[in-house]
Amino acid sequence: MPEPDLQQLAALLRWYEDNGVDEISADAPVDHTAVRKASTQAPARVPAPAQATRRPQAAALPPGGEASADARKQADGARTLEELEAIVRGFEGCALKETATNTVFSDGNPKAAIMVIGEAPGAEEDRRGKPFVGPAGQLLDRMLASIGLDRTTVHITNILPWRPPGNRQPNAGEIATCLPFVERQVALIAPKLVLLAGGTSAKALLGTTEGITRLRGRWVDHHYPGLAAPTPTLPIYHPAYLLRQPAMKRDAWRDLLSVAARMEGLGIGPGGENSPSGTIAD
Ligand code: URA
Repeated sequence: MPEPDLQQLAALLRWYEDNGVDEISADAPVDHTAVRKASTQAPARVPAPAQATRRPQAAALPPGGEASADARKQADGARTLEELEAIVRGFEGCALKETATNTVFSDGNPKAAIMVIGEAPGAEEDRRGKPFVGPAGQLLDRMLASIGLDRTTVHITNILPWRPPGNRQPNAGEIATCLPFVERQVALIAPKLVLLAGGTSAKALLGTTEGITRLRGRWVDHHYPGLAAPTPTLPIYHPAYLLRQPAMKRDAWRDLLSVAARMEGLGIGPGGENSPSGTIAD
């Protein structure tokens, strides 16, 4: 057999990664051309991917149905953030857990007056088990710093605690299943302000179909289950989007100024030497 061309193999792997194929989702490769041929011939047995047999109950659940009801019941039983974290880590009703390396629960200060809620962990977050620690997270840190905030003064989480393989968009069933957990997290933290980073998070939590371009920059007083009073909530552009579309940082900066003004109105935050610096650093 000829020696493999390592440079070509490395280039092929890079190409896969650039296209979002950066996870092994089954223990054995599946030759899909063989599957297609077999389906047109006699019923030859094609081995099912190992993953499909490991957690059949999660994949078989209807979108958001039973799994979501189970998540809600368990989440509502959590009296503290620690209890909720243990429940999320032990939850078996979302198939995303199967391909994720880590459960990514939250980061920052659980007593913070401000909560930031993103979409789902990316590759770096999945590896390290913490939300927003990859390139988008670094931009989020700079955005927060521009209005005097950091991870000691905000609490950060996502609507999904597990990374969708290859960073694909989470589907409606996965979002519905995991929503009770993030809603309970909001109820337990009881923040004074909530920032929803990106359209997926804004649509899921506000229960709307409007896109982020229309939602961003508009405060809504949103009723989170378990909280007596509505919480001022602001959808903002997702930092990953801002990395791809830096021209949109102008709008993002306006939104951050609006957050700073709200903070001042509510007497939150450092002010003084930490007051808005005027720009979001690249
Ligand atoms: N994008 C998100 O929405 N959340 C993360 O934690 C990382 C990237």
